[in-house]
Amino acid sequence: MMELDWLGGKIAGEGVLRLSKKIRDLEDVFEDHAAWTSMDPETLVYSVEWTQPTAQDNEGGLFWGVTVIEPGRVGEEFFMTRGHFHAKRDRGEYYTAVQGTGMLLLMDESRSGRWEQMTPGSLHYIPGHTAHRVVNTGQDPLIFWACWASDAGHDYGTIQREGFSHRVIASEGSPRLVPSTQP
Ligand code: F6R
Ligand code: ZN
Repeated sequence: MMELDWLGGKIAGEGVLRLSKKIRDLEDVFEDHAAWTSMDPETLVYSVEWTQPTAQDNEGGLFWGVTVIEPGRVGEEFFMTRGHFHAKRDRGEYYTAVQGTGMLLLMDESRSGRWEQMTPGSLHYIPGHTAHRVVNTGQDPLIFWACWASDAGHDYGTIQREGFSHRVIASEGSPRLVPSTQP
């Protein structure tokens, strides 16, 4: 059995997996390369904890995890996750936010984008064939839980090559969604 710190975004128990992404790991994720270069490479951007009770390719199994995105910006752009399609494209996912405010960016395979506001208690169903990225637009950590299929896998390459359809930038203090100028 695992124990969750629901609002703190932590999982305790045996076999919990953890990763963190710092500025140095996120080259080419943010548009403003000069701003990225000027930052401390050890700055934490986000961390993930998750449980894999079944094998990664187990059809019918489920994974459970939590992501904490720190508040911050690279140039005009807010801290965010890398974003991905699932390698098995038809696999869906649930996200639910418990702390902070942000935006869930969604994009289908024809690059048509949409977004949903994330606030404590918001529940988001991410259908299959839909890339997903979360942006922290607030002053505090954005914490959200996720449940996804064990055999979903992650395709980061497509987003790395082609980018998302939209970016979220700070415009006079408020978040604004703008079409991407660069893949
Ligand atoms: C799993 C999932 C989340 C993300 C996490 C970090 O399918 O969508 O657990 O993996 O929020 O984001 P990425 O994986 O895009 O770096
Ligand atoms: Zn996912």
